[in-house]
Formats: sequence, structure tokens, C-alpha cells
Amino acid sequence: MNLNQLAQDLTQKGWHLSPDLVPKDICQDLLTQLRAHQQNPGDFSKAQIGQGADKKNRADIRGDFIRWLEPEQAETSEQRFFSWLEKFKQNINQQLLLNITDYELHYAFYPPQTNYEKHIDVFQQNSSRILSFVLYLNKEWQAADGGELILFKEKNPNEEDARIAPHFGSMVVFLSGKIYHQVDFTNRERLSVTGWLKNR
Ligand code: OGA
Ligand code: MN
Repeated sequence: MNLNQLAQDLTQKGWHLSPDLVPKDICQDLLTQLRAHQQNPGDFSKAQIGQGADKKNRADIRGDFIRWLEPEQAETSEQRFFSWLEKFKQNINQQLLLNITDYELHYAFYPPQTNYEKHIDVFQQNSSRILSFVLYLNKEWQAADGGELILFKEKNPNEEDARIAPHFGSMVVFLSGKIYHQVDFTNRERLSVTGWLKNR
């Protein structure tokens, strides 16, 4: 796993996009599992905003449904992604001289006509999130499907830096505490695994 470009991008602009960091067979397994969970009512919940007592449902701000992935409850096919993440964490720590100790991750799906307004991933009370990642699981995504991730500039959060279409197998990594971002309205169901590398 060569993270030179990732290291350089994170230093220079605060984010990195890769089409092939995660092997495609692992992505396919995650997609199959996500689809299976969607068949079970109750496996997904409406995503909330805020933390602790401030948590609330605001579909006007955030329209996705999520399911947290726990290593203890992972299916065999999901465990392969956890193994990959473990290696990713080790390589990040070596090559970026970070001190990542933990991660948390969830499946997400955005039904058609939903979005996620501009935000940053770090809660004021709790700054343990260092890097955010989103692994997209959508095959044959077309420009007309919308649903782009819009990243704002690290040094000027009013200015757009990039628009990223959620193509199958591509992964975006960005500094959780520095990069404002939003998910534009999607016209098609939009699937991903989203997570955070953290330190204690
Ligand atoms: C998030 C988020 C971006 C995306 O879940 O916090 O910003 O592209 N997701 O799904
Ligand atoms: Mn976010």
C-alpha cells in the first residue's frame, strides 16, 4: 500500500481521492452486505446530527440512513475490510507520522432527493476524529445522477475545491477537523461506507 500521494495531498490541500486504494473484491463484498442489510427492516436508522443530548433528526440537513459496522458483529466478508483498515491504519501511522489508534465506520445510503448540508466532521466537544474516509459503492454512476461530494478549500471554506462523483470503489480521505464538505442532492440511491480514523 503506497500512501505517498495520499500523504502529499493531505499536506498540500487536506484531501485525497483514490480510484483503487481498496481492492475491488472487498468493495463488492461490502456492496453485497449493504444490500442484504437493506432487506432487513431495522438494520438501518435515520442518521442524526449533533452528539449526546443534542442529537436530533433533521432530514432537511441530512437525509441519509446509516448502519454502524462493528468488528465483533462483522460477517466474514466484512472482516476483510476490517483487515484492510488495520493495515491502512498502520501504514498511515508510519508514513504520515500520525497516531491513529481507533476507527469507527458505518454504511450509508441516501435515498433519491436527499443531501447532507455543508458541515465539518469534528464535534466541538470531542476532537478525536483525525481523518475521514468515504468509500463509494455505486456502479455506473452518471453525471445526471448528482450526489457529488463537494469539498471546500482548507484555507477558504467559502470556496469550492472539488466535486467528487461517488463512483464504485473510489475513496476520498480528508482532514476531519479542517475540510468543510457537503453532499449535493442525489437523483439516485447513493451508497457508501463512511468512517473516521481517530486517536484517543
Ligand atoms: C458524512 C459525509 C460524505 C459523502 O457522512 O459525514 O460527509 O460523500 N459523507 O457521503
Ligand atoms: Mn461529513
